Amino acid sequence: MLTPEEFARRRGELIEALGPGCAAIVSASPERTRSRDVDYPYRPDTNLLYLTGFAEPESVAVLLPGRAEGPFVLFCRERDPARELWDGKRAGPEGAIAAFGADSAYPIGKLDEFMPVLLKGVDTVHYDLGHYPEFEARLGGWLKRLREQAKERNKAPVQIAALDYHLHEMRLCKGDAELDCMRRSAALAVEAHQQAIGRTRPGMHEYEIEAELIYRFKQGGATESYPSIVASGANACVLHYRDNNARMADGDLLLVDAGCELEGYASDITRTWPVGGRYSAEQRAVYEIVLQAQQAAIGAIEPGVSILDPHRAALDVITRGLRHIGLLKGELAKLVRDQACREFFMHRTSHWLGMDVHDVGDYEADGKPRALEPGMCCTVEPGIYIAPDNDNVPAAFRGIGVRIEDDVAVTPSGHEVLTDALPKDPEQIEALVGSL
Ligand code: GLY
Ligand code: MN
Ligand code: MN
Repeated sequence: MLTPEEFARRRGELIEALGPGCAAIVSASPERTRSRDVDYPYRPDTNLLYLTGFAEPESVAVLLPGRAEGPFVLFCRERDPARELWDGKRAGPEGAIAAFGADSAYPIGKLDEFMPVLLKGVDTVHYDLGHYPEFEARLGGWLKRLREQAKERNKAPVQIAALDYHLHEMRLCKGDAELDCMRRSAALAVEAHQQAIGRTRPGMHEYEIEAELIYRFKQGGATESYPSIVASGANACVLHYRDNNARMADGDLLLVDAGCELEGYASDITRTWPVGGRYSAEQRAVYEIVLQAQQAAIGAIEPGVSILDPHRAALDVITRGLRHIGLLKGELAKLVRDQACREFFMHRTSHWLGMDVHDVGDYEADGKPRALEPGMCCTVEPGIYIAPDNDNVPAAFRGIGVRIEDDVAVTPSGHEVLTDALPKDPEQIEALVGSL
């Protein structure tokens, strides 16, 4: 579990980076209606969660470096026994101070009245621009009021800046406490995949496998970090397949891309296994190319190499492999130069991973692909997808979709595969299918 000290350390680091004359404002995400008077399960804003651990809707954190009463102000819902009877417990401003380390806490209803006061004398307001239009309009209103009230122009903030830069850099490089969370999230997702592989049998529906995943996530105290992709047969060629309602036949491959969010940290794993327990020759040939590509990409990960290097390693193996099995034809160097494999491998190999499954952080620095640093976490997920209507390849290859995805942390000496415990060797996978 992350401690109050860890959240205080994060706020301290951001406050230090912002410096005097700045304020950071971080709003909770709005609640969203699912249907009529029923909301979607509430997912707190990641930046707010990262800085405070405060997970209630209708809350706003304000960081004010140098404020005499302390830099951390939290607005939140007041205690209300009548509402708490229906919706559950609220911390209230008293709890925000006692349990969440706020220096001052006020009812959310006071936001419009107090914010102009708090922002008086601030030059630059840092805010997560573009995400919450309604909140942004209110922010504009406070700044307008302040400017109207200000006798001297410089009493009102003169700049609004994106909060991203400092905060996203902080979130990108994980510290020890965060890496522990990442490991636990990965371990639970590994168990869920093992269960899903073991319970797969021909004739089941994709949603039954989805249920196995969700069941294990929930048992472990987690939720899905994104809607699970459970794609049998040619459905695997739809990269973010969502229907999960087809009946799975012997002879199909099943591609499952699923991860959990545990204590706020995401995992993201893909395995592709044969529904009937045996890869066909063509499925196995494609699988082995993806596996070699993934191993080459993981092998490329160490501090100092660029985030594109694992992708380049995967592209190289996939191009060679597809040429070897006859799906690409021509001179290898030209195929690599022309990125000919894009027809079959059309996405990047890696994305940042953290509290968000596609986590924050720039992929370029100074116009160049970013160099990896210890503490950064990313996925490694090459794939080959052969469209079911691709008449240029032998029929037995059509509709095959394979992706293999693991979660990797960059360490001082190289890398750690957080999801390493989940088999991907084809024989091990075959032995696991239907074994539970
Ligand atoms: N699960 C989405 C992805 O792998 O990026
Ligand atoms: Mn994935
Ligand atoms: Mn991914």
